[in-house]
Amino acid sequence: MASKKFKAMVVQETPDGKYIRQITDKSLDELPEGDVLIKVKYSSLNYKDGLSATGHRGVTRNYPHTPGVDAAGIVAQSVSDEFRPGDKVIVTSYDLGMNTSGGFGQYISVPAAWVVPLPDNLSLKESMAYGTAGLTAGFCILKLREHYITADKGEILVTGATGGVGSFAVAMLAKIGYHVVSVTGKLDEKQFLMDLGAKEVISREEATDTSGKPLLEGRWAGVVDSVGGEILATAIRSTRLHGAVACCGNVASPDLPINVYPFILRGITLIGIDSQSCPMEFRRRTWEKIANEWKLTALDRQTFVCSLEELDAEIDRILAGEQKGRVIVDLAR
Ligand SMILES: NC(=O)c1ccc[n+]([C@@H]2O[C@H](COP(=O)([O-])OP(=O)(O)OC[C@H]3O[C@@H](n4cnc5c(N)ncnc54)[C@H](OP(=O)(O)O)[C@@H]3O)[C@@H](O)[C@H]2O)c1
Repeated sequence: MASKKFKAMVVQETPDGKYIRQITDKSLDELPEGDVLIKVKYSSLNYKDGLSATGHRGVTRNYPHTPGVDAAGIVAQSVSDEFRPGDKVIVTSYDLGMNTSGGFGQYISVPAAWVVPLPDNLSLKESMAYGTAGLTAGFCILKLREHYITADKGEILVTGATGGVGSFAVAMLAKIGYHVVSVTGKLDEKQFLMDLGAKEVISREEATDTSGKPLLEGRWAGVVDSVGGEILATAIRSTRLHGAVACCGNVASPDLPINVYPFILRGITLIGIDSQSCPMEFRRRTWEKIANEWKLTALDRQTFVCSLEELDAEIDRILAGEQKGRVIVDLAR
């Protein structure tokens, strides 16, 4: 078993400091020691994988490396009492795909503490349609609800709406009755967003106010933001009294050009979302919601399935901000 070969994407640094991606054979003994060896059936592409695949040292310190922060598959070996060979499981985030060989390979070896049993009512492939992006959208929604932002409170703004986090936030919020307004840089994808359940689609320009006013007219009961920068700052300044803003990404900018007035004059809550270190109890609770109450029935319209060989072009696309919905990677293709 130890010398068994499997297919994986490997990112290598060249002597002139470039990073190249190749599909090669790895052997099981190249994987780290872990409690659970998983035969990966599906993975998915997240923005962070794009960074890992292009030598971003804030994500991955050492190369050669196999990215893939998401994996869903079947337990092949386990020294943990919690998991047995044949169990269907999901692993997302923690260190998977960052400095631990990730889901862009047909096997992963991980600590048992990272492994989530596949919820009933969800297939392995469906779980990777959601992946870290969908799970993060789910974390944002659960956190907004913990801050009393229920559907009757008013409009919810979702930024980066055609992206992985954004598209799942739009669809799941709409599914449970929220009035969703989505922000996109791709106005030609308006129909896609309306089909997901958005009630209104606005441009990034409409969602950006650079007047310098500390407060704008209060419109949003809640916000799911995956872009940061001026759009997040505008959203916070446009949030209604006692509203809440879930902040999870920085594709536009890591900066947040605001002052304290929205917080001290409107009692707005800014909620930070970190899927990587999210406690297991909250993670499992969110997966249960995704598999049941929030379950989406038309996942095909927001997912695209590719092979490991086809993944290279998708990585370039996500880094260019051109991805629409989610890319599932089928490791058996
Ligand atoms: N905190 C966490 O735990 C966590 C977990 C997952 C992801 N994230 C972060 O969340 C962000 C989104 O991840 P993702 O997987 O959804 O990525 P994605 O699929 O690439 O989606 C990002 C979307 O943001 C919009 N966008 C791109 N460039 C932009 C710009 N310059 N200004 C404004 N909007 C822009 C685009 O949508 P439109 O064209 O529709 O505007 C794009 O599709 C990333 O920063 C990622 O690292 C964080």
